[in-house]
Amino acid sequence: MPMSGIAPTFEAVPTLDHLRAAARRARGRVFSVQQGGRRWVVKQAVPGRGRARAWGGALLGRILLGYWLPRTPLRIGGDRQLHYEAGRLQRLHRAGEVVPAVAQVGEGFLVLEDGGAPLWRRIRHAGLDALRPVIARVAGDLGRFHGAGHWHGGAQLRNYLLAGEGERLVRIDFEEPLDEVMPLAARQVIDLYLLIHSITAFRQLSAGETTGLCRHALEAYLAGHAPDERMVACLVRAQATLRAIERRPGRLFRHTSKDLRRLFITAAAIEQTLPRDWRP
Ligand SMILES: Nc1ncnc2c1ncn2[C@@H]1O[C@H](COP(=O)(O)OP(=O)(O)O)[C@@H](O)[C@H]1O
Ligand SMILES: [Mg+2]
Repeated sequence: MPMSGIAPTFEAVPTLDHLRAAARRARGRVFSVQQGGRRWVVKQAVPGRGRARAWGGALLGRILLGYWLPRTPLRIGGDRQLHYEAGRLQRLHRAGEVVPAVAQVGEGFLVLEDGGAPLWRRIRHAGLDALRPVIARVAGDLGRFHGAGHWHGGAQLRNYLLAGEGERLVRIDFEEPLDEVMPLAARQVIDLYLLIHSITAFRQLSAGETTGLCRHALEAYLAGHAPDERMVACLVRAQATLRAIERRPGRLFRHTSKDLRRLFITAAAIEQTLPRDWRP
């Protein structure tokens, strides 16, 4: 696919040669380049998911929705995936949401304006008192975002930046085409789980503090947005399934799998915070 310039207001975007040379030097998939006195963040195309990971995504749908998702859209990769992400960023930008502007896309690269400093880096070692207001802000804003009819697809803490002096919260990472496989309510529920689950990753917090922080996030989310009945139905179904897994096979693995343990902390915090008549 040819490279297309998206925002004509950007004059000095890096050339393809510049991007290719920087990509050869880069250590990861996402790297930055300097051009025209600005910093650009570049995402490289990657091959689509393998069968196993697409199956994992379909399984998640089975848990949340009760039916198997089509696996083809979940295997998206290459320039198609970059164009997909660029399209989502542009639509959100037009809707007035704070996301990085797209400078150009194609030929294996998505070039974005520098959106700010990663939130995660700033808070990963913070104590509970410093975390509480930040988490409430992120969760409250996710509620507002959902209330406006949007969804993220990757609402975990690692996918936020802080711009300016930290006054603007910027969402990034929109490459999962979940809109092609499930309804809005389910995508929003996935966002909520991803956010709460990412809050269980602070190693400096005790178990009680972690659960408290997850609950604090959910309360802030619910203060910013009252989920409609479809989202509630989806949430109740997901909770019931997670609890059933925890009771049966999960019990065997909870002492060996940190991931499972974190998932169960997420489910428990959600269960404790949901209004009583929503609980499974
Ligand atoms: N527009 C941007 N401005 C500043 N940093 C960015 C931008 N886009 C991505 N990053 C940084 O690169 C990391 C990876 O980008 P992301 O879009 O989340 O891709 P991945 O799919 O690899 O998670 C982010 O966590 C963030 O630190
Ligand atoms: Mg990311």
